[in-house]
This record gives sequence, structure tokens and C-alpha cells, in this order.
Amino acid sequence: MRTFIIRARKGTTRWERVRSQIGASGHFEVIAHSVINAFFVSNGFREDVEIYIILDCSEDFPRTIKLSAGEGLSIAGFYEDAVIDLVEKALKDSHGLQKDETRVIAPGLQISGFGFEKLVGNLLETRPVYLLDRKGEDIRNAKLDLNPVFVLSDHLAMPKNSVKSLKRQGVKAISFGKKMLFASQCVVLIHYELDRSEF
Ligand SMILES: C[S@@+](CC[C@H](N)C(=O)[O-])C[C@H]1O[C@@H](n2cnc3c(N)ncnc32)[C@H](O)[C@@H]1O
Repeated sequence: MRTFIIRARKGTTRWERVRSQIGASGHFEVIAHSVINAFFVSNGFREDVEIYIILDCSEDFPRTIKLSAGEGLSIAGFYEDAVIDLVEKALKDSHGLQKDETRVIAPGLQISGFGFEKLVGNLLETRPVYLLDRKGEDIRNAKLDLNPVFVLSDHLAMPKNSVKSLKRQGVKAISFGKKMLFASQCVVLIHYELDRSEF
């Protein structure tokens, strides 16, 4: 299993506002491109992938949307609108979601009423978690454990407190070098490195 966590620092929890964050200051296209690159290959769909999208911008509490190929996720195609449709649906159909509640919206699509810290804490109980960070260890030198989880931020930096907390919990930082890449480009490179290691 390959799992990605992408933290949308300005990602809205209001379904009617998601689409307007594409190409605007919210830069929701970063999320859409990451989702597309996480799942799609030419003529195929990666079945061993899941991605969590954290929507931090909320009037009450953050939301975490999980897309999981293994649980039957269906995406209409590899274009931005198809991803936005899923995010909108998750938010719209979870009206009244309580804090910490999880609701399955459709096969492979679920939403939870919690955010980054709780999600990472839960995953750390059973999975190795890695932070994508330019200052981390070169991915080619780092020995990645099985079933890794990769944490990325969107167009904004991961908050310093979150980075400190991840490090305190033993999360290792891994790097693709000094050049600042888009999150979606990191997703492609992670797949590339893991695919290579499976040759
Ligand atoms: C566009 S970058 C974030 C830019 C943001 N302004 C900042 O200063 O962090 C999105 C995310 O991709 C990952 N990333 C980008 N370049 C990377 C690199 N060279 N190595 C490892 N991760 C990288 C990091 O997780 C980063 O938070």
C-alpha cells in the first residue's frame, strides 16, 4: 500500500466554495493534480494507493477526505473537475458530520471530522510515516519501510509546529533535492522510486 497525505492549508470545508479555489489563492489545483498523479498511469489505475486530503480551512473543525482505490474508488477521469466533483460530493453528503465522526460517502470515498494531527497519530500506530521535506535525507539513501505513508503540504509550507511534532514522533524527513517542487511532482517521484525498487 502507498498512502499520501496532502494538507490543503487553505482548503475549504464549504462544498460550494471548492471549485472557486481552482486557479485562485486557495490553489486547489495542487490537490487535484496530486490526486490524479497518485492514481492514474497511462491506460491504468493504481490499485494499491490511497490519498488523504486534509481541508484545514473551516468554521468548526478540519475535514479529512480519504480516496482509496482498494475500497472501490471511481474517478470519472484524470482531469481537475473529476477530483473536485468527489471533494464536493464528500462535503455535501456529510452535512451535519460531527467532530471525529467518519462517514462513508461512496465506495472508496469517505470523510472524517478531524484533521492532520489525529490522522497522522492514527496512521503512526501501524504504518511508517515520512515527511516530504527538501531538508530531509535523500530518498535514494533512505531505507523506506513497507507500506509507507508520505506527508506533503500544498502550495503553503507545513506549519513549523506540525513539523516539530512529526519529528518528535519519530517521523523521518525525506528529500528529492533542493529544488522546491509541486506536491503533485513529489507524488510522481515517490511512485517512480517505489516502482524502481520493485523491479
Ligand atoms: C510547493 S511545496 C510547498 C511550498 C511552500 N511554499 C514551502 O515553503 O514549503 C509542496 C510540498 O512538496 C514537498 N516538496 C517540494 N519540494 C520537495 C523536495 N525537493 N523534496 C521533498 N519534498 C518536497 C514538501 O512536502 C512541500 O511542502
